[in-house]
Amino acid sequence: MSPALRFVVGLVLGLALLTWGAFVLVQTTTREWIEKDVRLRAELAVAGARQALSVNWRSDRSTELREILTDITRDDRIMAAAACDSDFYRLAQTAGFPPRFNCDWIADQVRNLANPTVPASWHQTESLPGGPVMVSAMPVPDSDLILGFVVLVHDLSFAARRETSTRQFILLAFAFLAVAASMTTIIVARLTSRSWSEEIRRLARGEAPRGPEFRPILRDVRELVERMMVEKETESEGGAWTPQRLKSTLTRHLHGERVVIVANREPYIHERQPDGSIKVVHPASGLVTALEPVMQACSGVWIAHGGGSADRDTVDRNDRISVPPGENTYFVRRVWLEKEEERGYYYGFSNEGLWPLCHIADARPTFNTEDWQQYQAVNRKFADAVCAEVDSEDPIILVQDYHFALLPRLIRERLPRATVISFWHIPWPNSERFGICPWRRELLEGMLGSSIIGFHTQIHCNNFFDSVDRFLETRIDREQNAVVQHGRATLVRSYPISLEWPVRWVKSIPSAAECRAGVLNELGLPTDALLGVGVDRLDYTKGVEERLLAVERLLERHPEFLGRFRFVQLAAPSRTLIERYRRLNETVELVAARINERFGKNGYKPILLFRSHHEPSNIFRFYRAADLCYVSSLHDGMNLVAKEFVAARDDDRGVLILSQFTGAARELTEALIVNPYDLEEASSALAGALTMTPNEQRERMRSMRAYLAEFNVYRWAGRMLVDAARIRRRERLSGRISERLSPAASA
Ligand code: G6P
Repeated sequence: MSPALRFVVGLVLGLALLTWGAFVLVQTTTREWIEKDVRLRAELAVAGARQALSVNWRSDRSTELREILTDITRDDRIMAAAACDSDFYRLAQTAGFPPRFNCDWIADQVRNLANPTVPASWHQTESLPGGPVMVSAMPVPDSDLILGFVVLVHDLSFAARRETSTRQFILLAFAFLAVAASMTTIIVARLTSRSWSEEIRRLARGEAPRGPEFRPILRDVRELVERMMVEKETESEGGAWTPQRLKSTLTRHLHGERVVIVANREPYIHERQPDGSIKVVHPASGLVTALEPVMQACSGVWIAHGGGSADRDTVDRNDRISVPPGENTYFVRRVWLEKEEERGYYYGFSNEGLWPLCHIADARPTFNTEDWQQYQAVNRKFADAVCAEVDSEDPIILVQDYHFALLPRLIRERLPRATVISFWHIPWPNSERFGICPWRRELLEGMLGSSIIGFHTQIHCNNFFDSVDRFLETRIDREQNAVVQHGRATLVRSYPISLEWPVRWVKSIPSAAECRAGVLNELGLPTDALLGVGVDRLDYTKGVEERLLAVERLLERHPEFLGRFRFVQLAAPSRTLIERYRRLNETVELVAARINERFGKNGYKPILLFRSHHEPSNIFRFYRAADLCYVSSLHDGMNLVAKEFVAARDDDRGVLILSQFTGAARELTEALIVNPYDLEEASSALAGALTMTPNEQRERMRSMRAYLAEFNVYRWAGRMLVDAARIRRRERLSGRISERLSPAASA
C-alpha cells in the first residue's frame, strides 16, 4: 500500500471512530432531552386539567372524566389516557388505551418504587408493537389528599424517527468530512511536495533555495546530488576511463571548458640538428609522459618553457605551435626565458633548492636570494602567459610541479574565479625538513591560491598539512581534507598518477619476441642471454649507483649468472649544469666500468650503460626485450618507468623489481618490492626474478596490467576534474547565496 493510501485509510478510520463516538453522544443526549420533554408535557397536561379532574374524580362521573382525558390526548404525542383512583381502581380511560398498562399494572410498578407512600410522577419507557412508548403515572392531588393517578401513554416513535434522521445526518456529515479532509490533505501534500521538489531541483541545479527552511539541508542535498552524479557517471560508463570519457567528463561537468596546463617542461622540443634540420624530441619526463595523453583528450593549451634550440623557429607570432606534429589536437604556448632566469629559476631554486629539499636522497638543498628572485620573476612571467591564454573569467588551470609553487596565488589575484588545480609530482617532505627553506611561508601561501592541491600519496598530503600547520595561520579541515584561509578552502587530496592505457608506443613497435631478437642482435648478444633493464634520467634520486652495486652483488653471490646476465642501463643525462648531476654522471660511469672490469671476460660485460637521450619507441623495445626491470629510486613521488615496463609487457612476461620508496610500490604490489640500499635484498630479488617460473611471471604481470588498465591517467585527470567541478558548483552556489543574503555588498 502506498504511503498516501495508507494515510487516507488511517484518516478515514480515525474519522469513523470519531463519528461513532459523536453519534452515541448525540443519541443519548437527544433521548434524554425527548424523555424530559415528554415528562414535562405530561405533567403540564395533567396540571392544566387538575381542577376539572378533581371535580369529576368519582366512579359515577366516568363519562365526564373520559371527556377530560380525551381532551388531554388531543396533544398528538399522547396516545391514550386513563384515571386510576388511590386504590388503583380504574375510573375512566380513553378509547384504545393499551390494556397492558391498566391500573393493576400501574399499582405494581408504583409499589416497586423505593418509597411508594410518597406519590410522585412516575415515568417508564415500554415497548409496543407499534414502537416505543412512555407510560407516565401522575398523581392528582386535592388539598392534602391524593385522589389517584392519571396514566398517560406517550408515543415515542417520533424519537426513534428523530434518531434515525440524526444518525443519517451524522453519517452524511462524516462522509463529507472524510472526503473533504482526504482531499485537503492530498492537495496540501501535493502543493508542499511540489514546492519541495522545486526547491530540491534548485539545489541540485546549484541555485540558492528560496525558503529559509531549506538552508540547513542545503549542504546535505548538494553532497548527495554530487555523489549520485559521480556514481552515475561511473556506472553509465562501465567504470573504464578512456580519452572519450575524460572528454565527456569535461563537457558534462565543466561545460567543455578549455584546459590550460602550465608545466616547465614542454611535451615536444624542437632541436636544431648539425645538418640544419629540425628534430622533434620527446623529453625524458614522467610528468610529460602522463600529461600529454590528457591534453590530447581534452585539447586546450600547454604553457611551457621553450628550451629547444629550434623552438623559436617553429612557433607562430603568438609563440604557439599546434601539436602533436601531424595531429594538431592542442597548442603548446612557449615562454622564453633569459639565461639568468633559467639559471636562477630552473637550475637554481627549483633543482638545487626544492628538488633536494623534497627528496630524501643524501643531497643538501641550496637556497640563495638571487635564485629566489628569479623564481618569483619567472612565476610572474608564467602568470602573464596564463592570463593571455585564458578565454573566460573562470578558466580551469592545471599547474604542474615544484617549478610553480607561487603561480596559483598569482593567478588567483588576477582571476579570482579561476579553478586552479596544482599537482606536485615529487614527494613533499616532513615539516621539519621543509622548514629548511627560508621562503617556506611564501611557497605555502603561493600554493594555497589553488582550488585543489594533488599529491601522489596520502603521506605527502599529510606532510603538506603538517607544514601548513607549522608555518601558517590557517584552519585545517581534516574532515574535508582542506586548508581554509581567508574564507577560501583548498582541497588537498592524493591522486596517484598513471599512464594512458593502452600506451601508444606499445602499438607502434614489434611483438615482445621480435623486440627481444632485435635488441639482442643489436647488442651482439646470444639468444639465451638474460637481460635486465633500467631506464632513468641520470638523477641521484633514481638510485642508479645502488642498482649497479646490486648487480655486482648478484654476480658475487650467484656466479651461475656470470657470462649470462647483463644489465642494460638507459640513462638520459639531465640538469648537467648542476655540479651534483655532473658528479653523478662520472660516478655511474666509474662504477659501471669497475664492475665490468671485475667480471668482464672474453668480451662479456655485465653492465651496458647507454648515457644518452632515448626516444620512447626505443625504450619500449628494451622493456619488451628484458627479463626484468629494476626501478631502484631512493625516493620518488610515483615513478612511471615501473608502470611503463608493465604496460609494455602484453606478453605477460618479465619481472618488475621495485623500490619501496616509490609511490608506485603502493599500487604495483605484485612487483618484487625491495629496499635499494639493502644490496643483499636487492641482489636476491634479481636472482629471484631471473629464476621465476613463466607461470608466476604471468600471474604477477596480469594482475599489475589489470590494475593499470583501470587506474590509468584518464582516471587520474578525471577524478581531479570531477572534484574541480564540484568546487565550482559550490563556489557558484555560495556566490549566489551571498549575493542573495547581502545584495548591497555584492553590488
Ligand atoms: C621529474 C619532475 C618533472 C620533470 C622531470 C624531468 O619528473 O617531476 O617536473 O619534468 O623530472 O626533469 P627536467 O628537469 O628535465 O624537466
